Amino acid sequence: MAELLRTEGLTKRFRGLTANSNIDFQIDVGAVRCVIGPNGAGKTTFLSMLSGHQAPTTGRISYDGRDITGLSVVERARIGIGRKFQTPTVFDNLTVYENIELSILRIVPDNTARGRKLDAVLDAVRLNDQRSMLARELSHGQRQWLEIGLLLGNESRLLLLDEPTAGMTNEETTATGRLVRRLAEEHGLTIIIIEHDIHFIRDLRSPVTVLHLGKILMEGSFDEVASNPTVRSVYLGTDA
Ligand SMILES: Nc1ncnc2c1ncn2[C@@H]1O[C@H](COP(=O)(O)OP(=O)(O)OP(=O)(O)O)[C@@H](O)[C@H]1O
Ligand SMILES: [Mg+2]
Repeated sequence: MAELLRTEGLTKRFRGLTANSNIDFQIDVGAVRCVIGPNGAGKTTFLSMLSGHQAPTTGRISYDGRDITGLSVVERARIGIGRKFQTPTVFDNLTVYENIELSILRIVPDNTARGRKLDAVLDAVRLNDQRSMLARELSHGQRQWLEIGLLLGNESRLLLLDEPTAGMTNEETTATGRLVRRLAEEHGLTIIIIEHDIHFIRDLRSPVTVLHLGKILMEGSFDEVASNPTVRSVYLGTDA
């Protein structure tokens, strides 16, 4: 598969604290990767450097064969890097349909084509039945899916998801796992997902990158990571 994103020596220092140290990371088009690690390991900082919300102290990021280290959040969004924050930024008093329509407007000016794309996005995030509901009437899980829908409307190709299942019911968490797989397998999206929910990570069956003290501790399958004694002692041992 073709490589979509690569980081080389990515480092972020906040005054005396090194939040990310020399991160060499790589992900192919259509792949899903879980990033795990204990609190303060540097997961969100890593995502923030990918999305452009934080500038690296040193190191570089390439995307689609191009150096994007100096690009802003908006410039990265235009080339398909979409980030979902923990608190959804949907418009509460607009319907699901209108929210997604707004995300598509800039990209698809033609009415008919826009309608088709809207249906495709609603279908992808399984919010067809909720299309006329106001965003504020949605369940917590549905709001998270709507925000992923906004990223799809915006033509994101790389989704950066920071703890998307936080606060979800078990059913919503399971549905989110299915959504992530579907977006990768059927829509060819590339997804980097920070998660704490060990069952969600296991069920996703995706490669896992473990961060610890700002460094990559190891990468491997869930089983490899879960059975590694060092990983167990720094992370899984306390949580699993
Ligand atoms: N803007 C900032 N200024 C100063 N220090 C920061 C800043 N952002 C993060 N840090 C520090 O960098 C380290 C890594 O934080 P980060 O939020 O990336 O961890 P995390 O792995 O996402 O943790 P959690 O699981 O709690 O979300 C922490 O020690 C944190 O306090
Ligand atoms: Mg975090």
